[in-house]
Amino acid sequence: MNAQTDADARPAGGGELRLGRLLPGGDPATIPEIVEQLGLWDRTDPPGGRPHVMLNMISTADGRASMAGRSGPISGSADRELFHGLRTAVDAVLVGAGTVRTERYGRLISDRSHRDLRRRRGLSEEPLACIVSGRLALGEDIPLLGEPAARVVILTSSQNSLPASAAHIDYVRAERSGLFDLPAGLAELRQRFAVRSLLCEGGPHLSCQLLAAGLVDELFLSVSPKLAGGTQSAGEALRILAGGELEPPVDLELLGVMQSDSYVFLRYGVCARERVSRETMLSSSLAS
Ligand SMILES: NC(=O)c1ccc[n+]([C@@H]2O[C@H](COP(=O)([O-])OP(=O)(O)OC[C@H]3O[C@@H](n4cnc5c(N)ncnc54)[C@H](OP(=O)(O)O)[C@@H]3O)[C@@H](O)[C@H]2O)c1
Repeated sequence: MNAQTDADARPAGGGELRLGRLLPGGDPATIPEIVEQLGLWDRTDPPGGRPHVMLNMISTADGRASMAGRSGPISGSADRELFHGLRTAVDAVLVGAGTVRTERYGRLISDRSHRDLRRRRGLSEEPLACIVSGRLALGEDIPLLGEPAARVVILTSSQNSLPASAAHIDYVRAERSGLFDLPAGLAELRQRFAVRSLLCEGGPHLSCQLLAAGLVDELFLSVSPKLAGGTQSAGEALRILAGGELEPPVDLELLGVMQSDSYVFLRYGVCARERVSRETMLSSSLAS
């Protein structure tokens, strides 16, 4: 294995962080280089008139998705950089209201150079911020809603609306069995807002429903070098998926492995229901 430690991969005296590339193999690369080679903004349209959907999650080595109620304590510098790097490559970011509330979502692209990079990729400066909520319990104190540059779409089963805020807010309304109808909502994002690439940042309840409905094409999974323990009964052991059991289980196909310090970054194609062909994925993958 040609694994390099992060110390090996960084130029002497500091500098840009480089990830070891294990599959496909290659020289260490910066996250902007890796994201550029992935070409996420240019994936083939999946069937069903919806966007290409990528899910990005992080887990401890024993499967925990949060510690002390947040994902921050299990993250690290390379994971954070990849999280923001993926945002530079998609039309829209999708997130559940629980995560928006807990993680206090703010402006999606705060770095000027990231906005310029998006423009060079033919994308808008800011991805559309898409929030799924039934109760619309999203206070004006959530930084994203107070951000004038933000373009927000609320995906909801409710007929109500949020109070006016500084952000520009649109609504996609679709209801099935009391919940927001995700397949219909994603199709509307594609048709009404021209969203071709959609990055879902969780949380576990939203992610599980997307997978159950066959609406995920790729999974980016960061494995953090931590063991956290905890019991589900204490409500403290949230995993990256929560809610109903996936029956049948969703099969994954390993497409990429990278490494930084003791963090491992996995990229999977989601095989079940509507799968992305390995050939399509590899043609725009990490091959150097
Ligand atoms: N490890 C990771 O990668 C990661 C990523 C993200 C989040 N997290 C952690 O996950 C925790 C939050 O978990 P969570 O599962 O509660 O978050 P979530 O999935 O982001 O939010 C759940 C909420 O989303 C809304 N929702 C989801 N599906 C819906 C549907 N079909 N119809 C209507 N509303 C829907 C509901 O909002 P309303 O209540 O407004 O109706 C629901 O309460 C936090 O601790 C966060 O730190 C971890």
